[in-house]
Amino acid sequence: MAKAKTYYFCRNCGYQSASWLGRCPECGKFGTFDEEVVKAESTRRTSDLGASTHPKRLEEVTYDTTARTSTHSTELDRVLGGGLVSGSLLLLGGEPGIGKSTLLLQMALSLHDKRVLYVSGEESEQQIKMRADRLGKVPNELYVVSETVTQRIFEHIDTVKPDLLIVDSIQTVTTESIDSPAGSVSQIRQCTTEFQHYAKQHAVPVLLVGHITKDGTLAGPKVMEHIVDAVLQFEGDRNYGFRILRAIKNRFGSTAEIGIFEMQEGGLHEVVNPSEYLLSQRDESLSGAAVAATLEGVRPMFVEVQSLVSSAVYGTPQRNAGGFDTRRMNMLLAVLEKRCGFKLGAKDVFLNLAGGMRIGDPAMDLAVACAILSSNVDISISPRYCFAGELGLGGEVRPVRGVEQRIAEASRLGFERFFVSKYAIRAIDRKRYPIDIVPVGVIEEAFRALFA
Ligand code: TYD
Ligand code: MG
Repeated sequence: MAKAKTYYFCRNCGYQSASWLGRCPECGKFGTFDEEVVKAESTRRTSDLGASTHPKRLEEVTYDTTARTSTHSTELDRVLGGGLVSGSLLLLGGEPGIGKSTLLLQMALSLHDKRVLYVSGEESEQQIKMRADRLGKVPNELYVVSETVTQRIFEHIDTVKPDLLIVDSIQTVTTESIDSPAGSVSQIRQCTTEFQHYAKQHAVPVLLVGHITKDGTLAGPKVMEHIVDAVLQFEGDRNYGFRILRAIKNRFGSTAEIGIFEMQEGGLHEVVNPSEYLLSQRDESLSGAAVAATLEGVRPMFVEVQSLVSSAVYGTPQRNAGGFDTRRMNMLLAVLEKRCGFKLGAKDVFLNLAGGMRIGDPAMDLAVACAILSSNVDISISPRYCFAGELGLGGEVRPVRGVEQRIAEASRLGFERFFVSKYAIRAIDRKRYPIDIVPVGVIEEAFRALFA
């Protein structure tokens, strides 16, 4: 019988210690240590490790390029880098209720020619069936089981012999070799490792669902991110239908690709033209709105920034930004105030992005600044103008990456004018695009061009 031992694990990074610590020496967080009972592993024998290995010349190593399984979803395939790779272990993270189970169940429903086992630790088989019936036709090679113990899950796998395994979610499964509760660091690490061994040995792709904590990181330790081959993150505002799937890590593809979906009554739908979705049909005469030409990974996305500037009623002006970093907005306001002489100190400033989007692209700055200025002077900006540029502390408009791509997309969408840093367009053949490119060096130039 293996001896049980007690260890302390950091909830944040998975650091292991023999005694309790107040501060984690690995990640520096305070009060993150939990006590967990771990059964000592029996001494491993080489025979447990599977087939023996030997070093090969890299040039002699061959692989099968067709070993990818298409998920029948263009957006999902794009993020995966062309489909599911056999023997790979994937982690799909996201906040509760964002649509992780829906995404994977929908994928399982569309794989008619594959045998899929969907293991759920969160929902009963009846609940899964009810949802599947709403989403589409149920193929006869899709198996579901409500189970949480890995040893029993592997028994089911032996009988079903699936081509694809889905485990929803890793926080609910436990292995019998560890005594700590489901969702604890050692459980998550051990279970992930067990699924990894299974994936590699049987060349079956395994998809794990993982929850995200309130501060936006994957619940459970970072060690899990090291074990898996790819980490996908499903994001969006639950009050809106728009969802973005990103690859945070991908051993088989680029992390620059994103997939875009919309949650509707009948499940998730692919969004081919996100910009058309994010640009509100607005009245020409509305002040305080400007369109930002952003780039998410390699995908251009045009988002409307709305701003409202009004006189502060109380002593301290209110500053509020939805979908944009409030500190960044305060910095932009300080730049507009100090360098360009706009008196915004006694004003309330509110900012919002259409569609409940959150965008971190620094190229948003120019559109944000122009939207604020537009509301301040109460002069509207044409909805056919768009902006891309980062603002420096001196009010200078800095170049951003992928300018040509943004310009090409703006032309395609029928925009008339594109405001961009004058340093960004030197290499661009402006005659190629049927759009009026307005180069700006400092924010005042944009101000004069728009409102003078
Ligand atoms: P779910 O996949 O259960 O989220 P997660 O697994 O990430 O926790 O989806 C949750 C939400 O999606 C749920 O609140 C309802 C909504 N939804 C729809 O709007 N349309 C649908 O067709 C389905 C299946 C779900
Ligand atoms: Mg779920």
